[in-house]
Amino acid sequence: MNTYEKGMLAPDSLTGKTIAITGGGSGLGLSMAAYFLALGAQVSICGRKEEKLASAAAELQSRTGKSVFYFPCDVRQYDEVEAFREKTIEALGPVNGLVNNAAGNFLSPTERLSHRAFDSVVDIVLKGSYNNSLSFGKYWIDQKIAGNTLNIVTTYAWTGSAYVVPSACGKAGVLALTRSLGVEWAKYGIRTNAIAPGPFPTPGAWDRLFPQEFMQQVDIPSKIPVGRAGVHQELANLAAYLMSDFSAFIQGEVITIDGGEWLKNGGEFSWVGDLIPAEMWDMVEALIRSKSGKS
Ligand code: HXC
Ligand code: NAP
Repeated sequence: MNTYEKGMLAPDSLTGKTIAITGGGSGLGLSMAAYFLALGAQVSICGRKEEKLASAAAELQSRTGKSVFYFPCDVRQYDEVEAFREKTIEALGPVNGLVNNAAGNFLSPTERLSHRAFDSVVDIVLKGSYNNSLSFGKYWIDQKIAGNTLNIVTTYAWTGSAYVVPSACGKAGVLALTRSLGVEWAKYGIRTNAIAPGPFPTPGAWDRLFPQEFMQQVDIPSKIPVGRAGVHQELANLAAYLMSDFSAFIQGEVITIDGGEWLKNGGEFSWVGDLIPAEMWDMVEALIRSKSGKS
């Protein structure tokens, strides 16, 4: 097993933490929940589908031997978010952590989207994140709890991206929320940070962004300098570190975990390695030197 596939922190690193994870019933939210439980945290998860949450809770129980609290909630609805927070406190006691992980997304040319489709994604991503940040933040300030929020964004929050425009708009807003509250609420002892993952295979993302039918034509590892997609445990390691007190001096920050993908795609000459094989470089160098007249 590679080192990055193993848990990184000591087993009591999240003891005393009670963490609410939106969208914790599948994918990366589920992986974070499993690792937080293993590190001693209590965990509460929400999502829209009760059956999915129940089966996630059963899976977490069998993987970690620990139970989670789950509550069906649409993060776009503020009253449901308040209920999620209140029911979590009733079940587990004071909550001091929040992971805004729930998201909606699908690949589409923007001109094909109805305004309802645009709303749907932006509302899950941005409204869902600020609804939870507001609900938990007001509670933390009122109860003098040193809360900690982790927002899951993505690298196109700052580059933008064609064909996932509502998601890019929503994630850019969540990045602004992270940086703004990281400053404004620090005086209450509240921390706010974000993780920007590159590709981490999950059914939720892959079915909507890289459907099998055309997946064969998209070589994801070739887009990533380290040559592979992310492994859930390495994201869970980073998330656990940010939810722990070991990262107490990290505030308002976004940490990228993408194997160098966005820099490669943004760099003017990143494509050169794909075009010019190693054995051609003697010839290319000689050609370039000849232009300076010093070959
Ligand atoms: C065009 C579409 C569409 C599609 C839905 N719509 N799918 N339009 N192309 N493929 C339209 C619908 O017709 C409708 O508009 C509007 O969007 C709302 O659709 P609903 O199905 O009613 O919405 P809802 O039930 O709220 O579902 C939200 C959803 C869905 C976003 C559409 O995909 C979902 O539940 N997603 C949750 C999980 C998810 O997306 N996970 C992936 C996250 S991955 P009309 O006009 O007809 O009413 C991610 C990774 C990023 O974020 C980075 C990767 C590297
Ligand atoms: P996922 O499994 O589809 O996770 C999204 C979760 O959000 C689901 O559990 C879904 O549950 C929940 N959700 C959606 N709409 C909701 C709503 N209105 N209210 C409450 N919950 C809702 O996908 P994932 O890949 O793990 O994504 C997790 C996070 O990582 C997202 O923020 C995503 O943008 C980010 N991310 C993922 C990747 C990647 O490559 N996987 C890359 C970059 C960023 P229900 O359907 O039951 O509501």
